[in-house]
Amino acid sequence: MKTFHVIISASLIIASAYTQFQQNSYTIVHDRVDNIKCNKSILRRPDFKVLQYNDSLQTKVLNGSGTIRTTLTELTLVPTVYRFVSNAYRLFPINVTIDSCSPNKKNVLGLLSILNHTNYRKCPVTPGYYYLKYYMLEEDKFPPHIPYGQYKLSVDTYTTNRAFICSGDWYGSIVRKNQD
Ligand SMILES: *[C@@H]1O[C@H](CO)[C@@H](O)[C@H](O)[C@H]1NC(C)=O
Ligand SMILES: *[C@@H]1O[C@H](CO)[C@@H](O)[C@H](O)[C@H]1NC(C)=O
Ligand SMILES: *[C@@H]1O[C@H](CO)[C@@H](O)[C@H](O)[C@H]1NC(C)=O
Ligand SMILES: *[C@@H]1O[C@H](CO)[C@@H](O)[C@H](O)[C@H]1NC(C)=O
Ligand SMILES: *[C@@H]1O[C@H](CO)[C@@H](O)[C@H](O)[C@H]1NC(C)=O
Repeated sequence: MKTFHVIISASLIIASAYTQFQQNSYTIVHDRVDNIKCNKSILRRPDFKVLQYNDSLQTKVLNGSGTIRTTLTELTLVPTVYRFVSNAYRLFPINVTIDSCSPNKKNVLGLLSILNHTNYRKCPVTPGYYYLKYYMLEEDKFPPHIPYGQYKLSVDTYTTNRAFICSGDWYGSIVRKNQD
């Protein structure tokens, strides 16, 4: 199992080096987002949640909004990943840092499609109201071989000089895809 973890963290380091992935074995299910805390001098009125987008499809999507109060020239996301094993969320050894302001020409994890669901365009992020509307992850562009199960991601976001912007917890699962 340990070797497996090392392989996964190695693939994610490659991900951060902008490799494109492809997989068709699992689905990412959003459960909920909670415990959102923000630095009020940077972000006001944060509202981030998981929504049922379409009852017939049973698809859940991410929705959010907030008001940025200062110009951000750096935007770094640091997720800490936990997997639910033996009745507890235990640290899952993956280190990924997503630097949203670095030029990113390739479509890492399919994240470019986020631009179809937000009014955010590019760095620097200027003050104003921003939203994320009905965003679904492009799971087919995620790395293969992530173990099925329940996960928790505690995400911290930072700007210049590691000034804290927001943190929050995402809960969801990696579920085997029905193969036809
Ligand atoms: C929900 O999905 C079904 C099947 O794809 C589609 O026919 C329907 O228009 C969708 N409803 C909404 C509100 O998007
Ligand atoms: C992740 O980063 C922490 C702190 O930088 C380090 O101690 C740990 O070994 C790293 N884990 C992996 C799987 O790379
Ligand atoms: C955004 O949506 C358009 C129209 O659906 C689509 O053609 C385009 O590929 C999407 N862009 C990304 C980056 O997914
Ligand atoms: C989802 O986000 C959009 C954009 O902020 C907002 O207009 C919409 O009301 C939100 N939907 C729900 C159900 O919160
Ligand atoms: C909150 O933001 C302000 C303004 O950018 C910054 O000076 C402060 O250090 C931040 N707080 C934390 C805990 O990082």
